[in-house]
Amino acid sequence: MQQKRTAAKAGTARRGATTGNGTAANGRATKAAAKRAGRGKEPGLDLLAYRDEFPILQRKVYLNSCSLGPLSRRSMAAMDRFQELWNEHGAQAWYQLWMGEIASLRAKVARLIGASPHEIAIAPNVSAALSEIASGLDLGERNRVVLADMDFPTLAYQWLAKRRTGTEVVFVPSPDRVTLPAELFAAYVDERTGLVATSRVFFLSGYIQDVRRVAEIAHANGALLLVDDYQGTGQIPLDVKALDIDFLVTGTLKWLMGGPGLAFIYVREELIPRLRPTVTGWFGARDQFQFRTTEFEFREDAARLEAGTPAVARPHPGDRRGAHPRALALPGGRRGAPRARPWLESLQPARRRRAQLDRVAGAGAAG
Ligand SMILES: Cc1ncc(COP(=O)(O)O)c(C=O)c1O
Repeated sequence: MQQKRTAAKAGTARRGATTGNGTAANGRATKAAAKRAGRGKEPGLDLLAYRDEFPILQRKVYLNSCSLGPLSRRSMAAMDRFQELWNEHGAQAWYQLWMGEIASLRAKVARLIGASPHEIAIAPNVSAALSEIASGLDLGERNRVVLADMDFPTLAYQWLAKRRTGTEVVFVPSPDRVTLPAELFAAYVDERTGLVATSRVFFLSGYIQDVRRVAEIAHANGALLLVDDYQGTGQIPLDVKALDIDFLVTGTLKWLMGGPGLAFIYVREELIPRLRPTVTGWFGARDQFQFRTTEFEFREDAARLEAGTPAVARPHPGDRRGAHPRALALPGGRRGAPRARPWLESLQPARRRRAQLDRVAGAGAAG
């Protein structure tokens, strides 16, 4: 059956809206926010109280989260805290705090999308995340990539740029520039197809694709499925396992309300060893802190797709109930902030000694 569903292009003005799993679209209202607004116990009213968390709503009707989510008070506080910690600890913040926070961020993203932490990598933006996958995935004889003509251009550009190396790019046309019934993919996906790459929510129309059905069509033909979920994550619930997705990219800019500079990659566990990107760096190396310039091996987890130092000053998603922006640099901070296990403690003894020596020698983790 054809599905005609669209995701709201703007969530901030919705009153009493709930997500598909019955939780408030923007997460639970804080008690303080509810008190400030002087409102009671009804869930819809609590959600209204949540507007206090976003000062811009005092001045504007915010309808453009699909471009940039509004800034919350807790995000501002978290970024202030980041600067305080940077000022307090200097380069030691890398080892004492931020490397541990980066690991806990992967775990939080995993919880948000129904994956495991070792299946998550961090990237600076969705285009770079896609480039990691495009450069790392050898499709062999199956060099056909199928997309929708409604997908965001950056998704198509990854494979259009590879046409000179033999990649064939095919677009499934939308019949009305709004929808794209999943069955239409079936005519384009065949034994030459290595990858179907498409969005869950179309940036042009807000239409929500039947990703589970697209996965069935791809897998029945021996192809893999990559989903660009930048317009979905934080707005509608996601379970990558239930949808049978092989690769997923998303980020904090839009519905996760964390601003620019941070994106995420999910890679299904079995596919991690297949990805050997030529776009790489020391964060993707197995023994990152051995500093062996003349040797390189990929990490065993999905973080092999990471290249260099991530933007630690960005707020990031908290839990799967909704978008709860928190910042990386929050240990010991406000109530509810995640406390990172000091990163040095998590290393093997030899690596720990080495990292300690590096600290003494003043070799900062940011290189
Ligand atoms: C669906 C989708 N994918 C990708 C992008 C681009 O992301 P980035 O600028 O992080 O590469 C956008 C930006 O609006 C988008 O809507």
